[in-house]
Amino acid sequence: MLPPSVLAHLNRTLDVPLHLQVYEGLREAILEGTLKPSHRLPSTRAMSQHLGVSRNTVLLAFEQLLLEGYLESRVGDGTYVTHTLPDTSIQKPEVRLEQQGIQPQLSRRAQKLLQVQVTQYLSQPEYRAFRSGMPALKDFPFEEWRRLHARHWKNPPLQLLAYGDPRGYLPLREAISEYLNASRGVRCTPDQVLITSGSQQGLELASRLLLDEGDSLWMEDPGYLGARAAFQSSGLQVCPIPLDQEGMQVQYGEMHHPQARMAYVTPSHQYPLGITLSLTRRLELLKWARNSGAWILEDDYNSEYRYEGRPLNALQGLDQDGRVIYVGTFSKVLLPAVRMGYLVLPEHLIDLFIHARSLVDRMPPGVSQAVLAEFMQNGGFERHIRRMRSLYADRQAFFLQLAQQHFPDWLPFQPSPAGMHLVSHLGEGFSDRTLVEEARKAGVTVRALSPSYLQDAKQGLLFGYAGFPEDESILAARDLGRAFRVQK
Ligand SMILES: Cc1ncc(COP(=O)(O)O)c(C=O)c1O
Repeated sequence: MLPPSVLAHLNRTLDVPLHLQVYEGLREAILEGTLKPSHRLPSTRAMSQHLGVSRNTVLLAFEQLLLEGYLESRVGDGTYVTHTLPDTSIQKPEVRLEQQGIQPQLSRRAQKLLQVQVTQYLSQPEYRAFRSGMPALKDFPFEEWRRLHARHWKNPPLQLLAYGDPRGYLPLREAISEYLNASRGVRCTPDQVLITSGSQQGLELASRLLLDEGDSLWMEDPGYLGARAAFQSSGLQVCPIPLDQEGMQVQYGEMHHPQARMAYVTPSHQYPLGITLSLTRRLELLKWARNSGAWILEDDYNSEYRYEGRPLNALQGLDQDGRVIYVGTFSKVLLPAVRMGYLVLPEHLIDLFIHARSLVDRMPPGVSQAVLAEFMQNGGFERHIRRMRSLYADRQAFFLQLAQQHFPDWLPFQPSPAGMHLVSHLGEGFSDRTLVEEARKAGVTVRALSPSYLQDAKQGLLFGYAGFPEDESILAARDLGRAFRVQK
C-alpha cells in the first residue's frame, strides 16, 4: 500500500480534475523521497478502491507519470517508482539544502543586492490617502487611452509587432524631444532620446555604464531612495551632500568628496524637500563636472507640476560639455504603471547605451509606444498636464485647509509652489517612523522623511495630496487627526 501521507489530500470540491490530483500527489511523494526508487505501487484496481476514485482516474495518472519517467512498468510485475532516479533529484531543493545546512548559492552580486533597501512601500497595495508619489489615478483619460489602444491594435504595422530600434520608436522619440525642447529647455535631437522602462531603468543603466564598482557619487541628502538603491546595487559609494535653500551645496561636495565621479540631482523640484536648485548652484555643478570629468544625472521627475510661475529650465540646456544625462518619466505625469521613461544622452554616449539596453531587455514595447506618441502628438498629453496641474493646485489648497482643521499644532505645513506632496517637519522628541505606524493603524498612509537621509537625519512626514479626491482626504484627515491627538 501507499504510505498514509501520500494522496491524503484528494479534494473533490476543487476545480482540479481528480486524475491530476492523483498525478500531482504521487509526483510530489516521489520528489520528496516519501516514495523511494524501486518502490512497488499498488495495482490500479487496489488503488482506485483505496482512494474511492474510478480505475480510469488512476490509469490516467499512472500513464502521465510513466510518460514523464517517474514510474516504470515491469512486464507481468506491476508498476514501480523508476529505479534510476538519482538521489539528488528525489527531494525538493530547499529541503535538501536545508538538511545539509547549505544556503542556496547566490552570486556575490546578488548578496550585495539583497542588502539594498529598495523603497518604503513599493509593493504595498494601499492606494489610499495620503500616499505620496501617486498621481490622480482615477482622473486618467481612460476613454481616450482605450480608443488609441483599440485603433493601434486593430491593424498595427509589422514594424510595431517585431523587434525594433533599442532606442525606442522614432515618432515617440520625436514627440519627446519636441516636448522637452519647448517645455523644459532641453537641447536634444530625437537620436539622443532613449526610451526606458521608467526612470529607474535609466538610473540603473547610467550608474552601471558610467561608473565602476567602488566609485563615489554625490547625492542630495535627503534624497530619492529609488535612485540611492540603484546606485548602491551597482556597488557605488553614495556621498551625502547637504542642502540649503539653494539646493545641493556643491562646495561641500568639492571639499568633502572631491573624488566623486557623478552627481545625482533633482534640480527643478528636489525630492523630497521641494527646493529648486539655484542658477548659481547649477553653474557651479556644471563647472565642477567640466573640471573633474564627472557626470551629472539630472532627474526631472515632475517638473510639470508647478503652480506659480514657470519652472526653471533643465540643467541639461546649460551643459556645453556633454556631461549631463537627463532622466525623465511618465510615471507622475501619466501613471506609474505605464512604465515609460526616457534618457536624453550626450551624443558620445548614445551607442554605448543602445548596446547595453539591447542586452537588458532589447527594446521598449511596440504598440504602447505608438499609443503614447500619438497621445503626445494630438494634444492629449498637454491637455492632461493642464488638467492635472489645476486639480493638484486645488487639492493642495484643500489639504492645507484640512490640516488646519484636523491636525495638531505639532504637525505644521507650508504651502508649496510645486509638486504632489507636502513635508511636515517635526520638532524634538518625535519619531516619524512611530507616527507612520500610528497612522497605518488609523488606516492612513504617510511616509517618514528620516529614511531619506544618509546623515544627520531629520524627522518629518510626507503627505501626498495629489492622488486623492476630497471625500477620501476628508476622512483620512479626520481619522489621522484623531489618532495623532491621542499621541501627544
Ligand atoms: C525623484 C523621483 N524620480 C523618479 C521617480 C519615478 O520613478 P519611475 O519612473 O521609475 O516610476 C520618482 C517616483 O517616486 C521620484 O520620486
